[in-house]
Amino acid sequence: MQNTRSSFTGKIGFVLAAAGSAVGLGNIWRFPYLANNYGGGLFLLIYVLLSVTFGFTLMIAEIAIGRKTGLSPLGAFKKLNKRFAFVGYLATIIPMLILPYYSVIGGWVMKYSVGFAIGHDKQMAIGDYFSDYISAKGAHNFIEPIGWFLLFVGLTAVIVMLGVQKGIEKVSKVMMPVLVLLIIFIAAYSIVTMDGAAQGVKYYLLPNFKGLTPTKLLMTIVAAMGQLFYSMSLAMGIMITFGSYMKKDVSIEKSTHQIEFFDTGIAFLAGLMIVPAVFVFNGGDPEKMNKGAGLMFDTLPKVFDTMPGGRWIGLIFFVMVFFAALTSSISLMETIVAVIQDKFKMGRKTACAIVLAISLALGLPSALGSSIWSQITILGKDFLGFFDFVSNSVLMPITAFATCILVAFVLKPKSVIEEVQLNGKFKQKGMFSFVIRYVAPVFIIAILVSSVLEALGVIEF
Ligand code: PHE
Repeated sequence: MQNTRSSFTGKIGFVLAAAGSAVGLGNIWRFPYLANNYGGGLFLLIYVLLSVTFGFTLMIAEIAIGRKTGLSPLGAFKKLNKRFAFVGYLATIIPMLILPYYSVIGGWVMKYSVGFAIGHDKQMAIGDYFSDYISAKGAHNFIEPIGWFLLFVGLTAVIVMLGVQKGIEKVSKVMMPVLVLLIIFIAAYSIVTMDGAAQGVKYYLLPNFKGLTPTKLLMTIVAAMGQLFYSMSLAMGIMITFGSYMKKDVSIEKSTHQIEFFDTGIAFLAGLMIVPAVFVFNGGDPEKMNKGAGLMFDTLPKVFDTMPGGRWIGLIFFVMVFFAALTSSISLMETIVAVIQDKFKMGRKTACAIVLAISLALGLPSALGSSIWSQITILGKDFLGFFDFVSNSVLMPITAFATCILVAFVLKPKSVIEEVQLNGKFKQKGMFSFVIRYVAPVFIIAILVSSVLEALGVIEF
């Protein structure tokens, strides 16, 4: 089958497609719960600092590699240096690990969208509805989450198979701005109407250094860094793939700034929407803040319940999140499919079918990991947590490290700088060279080592 490499039309097409991939559950579901668990303001501060230095550097490197080689990660790394070909494989495995559990969460979002649509919003706001739902307690069964998971991943596969993501991207061009407005509205509403919200906002915005130990700080940096990779779709070949579709006359530096601004901005607002509200619902007790992965599903229905017309606002909200998640899952699947197509000279449909089959096999344990398979843990984590950990805290740092070494010491930073300068001056070139040479590799290794030691129980955060 003939593979023709498509390219984005114009500047905004590239930025929006990359932002569509970047903005997803990572921003709206994962960021707020991490910020919540890791002390609010401090996490936020570290995240933003990492984003403008480290995130910027890695993203620009990946996009430039992609555009320079015109290849997806597997081919790109091999072309740049034979000894780094393994990075291409790693970068392909990561989305394959993420997509299945991402789809499980995407399924939860669908469940909530439909729940609000059919008027179950009150029920969903009561007590521990969400955790009962995923752990199949009471009236819930373990089959339903599997159904939603299948629906989500199936939908992703159909879209990728038909190659109609362009259409979806058009929809998300409209959806994204609406999502941003809605998040701002919900955040403002809950802050204005809730007693004690000011304290919550303070918790979220102001770093609190009291009682900060070096391990706690390290742990916060580790979490922020993992989140950065995840949220910006870095260290897994996605930006390389996107870069390969990018035209030579589009500015890499400007686009990177725009994607970064968009991604971090939405995460920030999502945190503002959720963290103060959680703070208030828990009476400001930090001990109770640790709701983990269920935060968005647990708290927001309660916030909506207090709003007039909350059912409809909730409905619109979950539908938007669904779209944001879908554009991300499409980009995950698209990357893997593209690699399989290139590598095995396979048709698009066959490649899709293979990816779908693997996703089902890997996603099922994640869908069951909080209910009937909750006894099974790996390194103390349930399946979903385990896949999240392996991809975000282990494989992504390895990929990012190898990418830095390749760019900084084998190809030299000038290889990226030249590519960026095809469109005028690279303003932050000094920072780029410095970070990619000295800061990033050291940081990434520190993170990798500490998260692995933590998982093995050698050190405790
Ligand atoms: N960046 C996406 C998000 O924030 C998740 C994602 C990761 C998408 C990797 C594609 C690739 O939700």
